[in-house]
Amino acid sequence: MEPFRFHLFVCTQQKPEGIPSCPASGSFAVLDALDREIQARGLNHDVQLTTCGCMGLCDEGPVMVVYPAGVWYRHVQGPDVSEIVGTHLRDDKPVDRLVWNDAPAMKAMSVEHGEKFRAAMAARDKAGMLPDRLDQMIRGYMPSRCILTALELDLFTAVGDGANAEQIGMRIHANARAAGMLLNALVALGLLVKSGVDYRNTPESARFFVQGSKDNHRNGLLHTANIWHRWSKMTDAVRTGTRVAIDRDGTPDWTRNFIAGMQRNAKDRAPLVVKALGTTGVRRILDLGGGSGAYSIAFAKASPDVQCEILDILEVVPLAAEYVSQAGVLAQVSLRTGDMLQDDFGSGYDIIMLNAICHMFSEEQNRDIFRRARQALAPKGRLVVQDFILNPDKTGPQHAALFSLNMLVSTDAGASYSELEYTHWMKAAGFTEVSRISLPGPSDLIVGLVK
Ligand SMILES: C[S@@+](CC[C@H](N)C(=O)[O-])C[C@H]1O[C@@H](n2cnc3c(N)ncnc32)[C@H](O)[C@@H]1O
Ligand code: FES
Repeated sequence: MEPFRFHLFVCTQQKPEGIPSCPASGSFAVLDALDREIQARGLNHDVQLTTCGCMGLCDEGPVMVVYPAGVWYRHVQGPDVSEIVGTHLRDDKPVDRLVWNDAPAMKAMSVEHGEKFRAAMAARDKAGMLPDRLDQMIRGYMPSRCILTALELDLFTAVGDGANAEQIGMRIHANARAAGMLLNALVALGLLVKSGVDYRNTPESARFFVQGSKDNHRNGLLHTANIWHRWSKMTDAVRTGTRVAIDRDGTPDWTRNFIAGMQRNAKDRAPLVVKALGTTGVRRILDLGGGSGAYSIAFAKASPDVQCEILDILEVVPLAAEYVSQAGVLAQVSLRTGDMLQDDFGSGYDIIMLNAICHMFSEEQNRDIFRRARQALAPKGRLVVQDFILNPDKTGPQHAALFSLNMLVSTDAGASYSELEYTHWMKAAGFTEVSRISLPGPSDLIVGLVK
């Protein structure tokens, strides 16, 4: 049985550098091009595009198979894609010049490869070598550090329309030799291209990392660069049980990048939260630790009847005011400077939001916030927590478990928490109904209702 007219399998088996593989011959670029071409020709309902592991034909990569007929292609490159989609997937005529139909040779190659591979793995295992998976995880900081340094130096902007290492080095006030090493590594990581001695941005780098681009993420990502320094102190933090202060903590640059980082995540999630909660009957919202104000802005835009109040610390309120003003919703969103751990919340709110807040605080602090929020809500009001929610045994999802450590190195007593914990604390605070709303992406909502 074949539910699709065509089912494509493209090999994307990663192998250690230097060993022939389909990704090393460009299978990811082929996969992207196939996806775009299939969509562009409106064939996506008839064609299923799937990645697959090694088929033992690695020297002939990139390799792909088209079922149900079982047509094998080898040495496929980006420029071949349009022909494969247009001729084979639309008109059912395989592209003969790329088809590989020497079944006995293919089988012999695959069997030989399988045997060699198993022998090589057994030899590595016998020699006690570290598995690639562990090695890659351990050295995972290297690509990350290259990109963060490039962002800190605003290197992608300096690359401009193309320049050599010396020119780029001068523009970013860096040593030319070292700049060249970083530029070459970024080419190896696929974030720049090099022709002759000149470097250019890839379309992706130009879009996401260059100042002036509409989708530039650099400012928000500089927050990740700042956090790097905290993660470097994790060993001390694990020993002592809390964060270790670092030099750049709390500087104006830090705060601006932090709020830009929050905005980067929140602006796309905010409409999803508004949709999940709805605006029917909602008049007043308190946005505790509102940050860039993305959630209040989204509610204000969704309904002219909603009034939001953002409560945040002294350093952040002026930044939030900029975002609110730019969004043109000053009439519906007001700002209050304060400390949510101490200050009175007020009363009569229909919704109190805690977006990405609870992980900063200890269990006791969260319980206290929930209790005071319960008193500040109107009848039928809702307390909404948005956060990375841990499984009951706290070992996953991976993002939430890692984020818990982000809070260890960043806060006095914060952590990621489980649904069970949030539910328990809300019930103890007097919320009668507590439910979880799944959102696309890494965080979910826990909603406590006052009856
Ligand atoms: C992780 S950010 C979340 C921002 C925003 N809710 C969002 O999801 O984009 C935490 C926010 O809480 C604010 N904050 C931290 N401690 C606070 C406190 N004690 N009182 C008020 N705001 C606080 C921070 O300034 C920051 O804006
Ligand atoms: S890596 Fe693709 S066939 Fe082996």
